[in-house]
Amino acid sequence: MPLHVGIIMDGNGRWAKKRGLPRTAGHSQGAKVFKKTVEWCRELGIKYATFYAFSTENWKRPKEEVDAIMSLLNKYLDDIRKMSQKNTRIIFLGDKSAFSDDVAARLTEIEEVSAANDGLYVLVALNYGGRDEILTAAKKIAQEYKSGKISIDEIDETAFEDYLYTKGIPPVDLIIRPSGEQRTSNFLVWQAAYAELVFMDVLWPDFSKKDLTAACEEFMSRNRRFGGV
Ligand code: FPP
Repeated sequence: MPLHVGIIMDGNGRWAKKRGLPRTAGHSQGAKVFKKTVEWCRELGIKYATFYAFSTENWKRPKEEVDAIMSLLNKYLDDIRKMSQKNTRIIFLGDKSAFSDDVAARLTEIEEVSAANDGLYVLVALNYGGRDEILTAAKKIAQEYKSGKISIDEIDETAFEDYLYTKGIPPVDLIIRPSGEQRTSNFLVWQAAYAELVFMDVLWPDFSKKDLTAACEEFMSRNRRFGGV
């Protein structure tokens, strides 16, 4: 089984369009499937599950849609917080400063309340971009170099990873992208260097436990060599 699975929750808009519904109805259904998928990951014994909920580029969408996603997120933060009762550790990947002070404080509070949990790790990428994450890390390291806290020789891959949002989290083994698109869209750019990619035709709001299982089975049939033979 993959230790760490990343999921790009794509196809909400098309799901809604097919039904003559507003795009926001697709996001609403998508959020319900997010919650169910967390439980399926737990049942399948996946240890780390990362969900791409909102990218640094998603702000370009119409204001009504961004507002609808933010209010959905706000609504689901209660549910996400409750996951901590099941020994779930919750971590948000991304720049929290773009959110209002109260949302940013809630995100931090949820991370803190779940910090001692060590069952399933749920990572939610919010205002996340892989390039932004790498740049932010590079800037922090430059600052530390400037202040004499780190030397050039100390900057290796392991040290660099400590500056990423995923500090302490193993690299992603399997990335699942539903909706038929075949790209990774700035998701876990550093962490996915050796990830297996599984693209599926199902739209995210229709994603089922069967699809998650099928993606894991596809992963298990792959021969991972990590550059070796
Ligand atoms: C991509 O589908 C989806 C998003 C940009 C938003 C995902 C958000 C949620 C599932 C809800 C909020 C999340 C949580 C964790 C509660 P799309 O709109 O790009 O679909 P399309 O490609 O069919 O237009």
